[in-house]
Amino acid sequence: MKILITGNMGYIGPCVVHQLRAFYPGATLVGLDMGYFANCLTNVEVLPECGVDVQYFADMRKLPAGLLTGVDAIVHLAAISNDPMGNTFEEVTNDINYRSSIDLAKKAKEAGVRRFVFASSCSMYGFADDAPRTETSPLNPLTAYAKSKVFTERDLKEIADQKFVVTSLRFATACGMSERLRLDLVLNDFVAGAVASKKITILSNGTPWRPLINIQDMARAIDWAIKRELTDGGEFIAVNTGSNEWNYQVKDLAEAVVRVIPNVDVSINKNAQPDKRSYRVSFDLFKKVAPDYQPEVDLITTIKELKRGLEAMEFKDEDFRNSQFMRLKVLTHLRNKGLLTEKLEWKK
Ligand SMILES: NC(=O)c1ccc[n+]([C@@H]2O[C@H](COP(=O)([O-])OP(=O)(O)OC[C@H]3O[C@@H](n4cnc5c(N)ncnc54)[C@H](O)[C@@H]3O)[C@@H](O)[C@H]2O)c1
Repeated sequence: MKILITGNMGYIGPCVVHQLRAFYPGATLVGLDMGYFANCLTNVEVLPECGVDVQYFADMRKLPAGLLTGVDAIVHLAAISNDPMGNTFEEVTNDINYRSSIDLAKKAKEAGVRRFVFASSCSMYGFADDAPRTETSPLNPLTAYAKSKVFTERDLKEIADQKFVVTSLRFATACGMSERLRLDLVLNDFVAGAVASKKITILSNGTPWRPLINIQDMARAIDWAIKRELTDGGEFIAVNTGSNEWNYQVKDLAEAVVRVIPNVDVSINKNAQPDKRSYRVSFDLFKKVAPDYQPEVDLITTIKELKRGLEAMEFKDEDFRNSQFMRLKVLTHLRNKGLLTEKLEWKK
């Protein structure tokens, strides 16, 4: 078994690599990443990339020769991975997230790769806080990021066949501790605020709905997608990945953090404009097709794990929303330093 993991040097990637190593002890794991966030490590002792057998430092837009030889499955994580980056680098987001994903899928099919797992996102439902959205609900992508996921899924569906089985995991918002932590994710942000300054600043009025999933459970879902039977969804399936119990309102998340870290001041912006990023999602299909791979890590455990991880880093940065744990800040910094071109290619 040879598995290629693109975007393995991001937030979710290191956890996916650890878990795939455990699930497939004899497999050859290959990583491919530009390394935008290579420096954004927490206090790790061993570089997460030591967990793969081969690491390509390469751009998805220029796939290295020989990359796909002998590859059985691809876990495709590489992307410009949130709305703020997508809004700032709109054309690049389309290029990397959509065009190069489809190029990879086509080349993979030609090369005889049998499984393709795509990291999609529930954000494609847009503003949807009335009834939980299912996979057949209308899509309403509001941003370049969300649109890139919709376009990629649409084309992947055309490419998939019995020999090239595609699973598009429409993930809930990720949370949890990682060797390359992101703090531009709602729960991680709240725990970071609580640990650093005993303050949680909710930028909205607290009512938006946001389904969450721990990154360890994302990795388990990826494992399911690699090995699922064709009877579980056919040659192409797009599936909301998370659990119904983890549809939270943002204010509930803050309350849960305060239960674990007491004496934290929570401020809600009562005058905030309605947040367009509010969606409730049904995860019934995921429960049906992947009953043995349901999310296991609960909210309080995730908060405790984040607290422990941040404390181990002696995390005290009250201004963390301007730090290297925010993906857009890192790209902007690399651009300002002249290290990345406007197309987000490394200057050579
Ligand atoms: N974090 C979430 O809440 C969440 C939710 C749903 C879906 N997803 C999806 O999961 C995937 C991983 O998310 P993440 O949180 O780890 O993001 P991340 O930004 O931490 O990691 C993405 C990785 O992709 C790499 N990358 C970007 N462009 C590249 C290119 N042209 N060539 C090679 N590598 C490139 C980056 O260097 C980075 O290491 C993304 O596709 C994201 O859209 C994430």
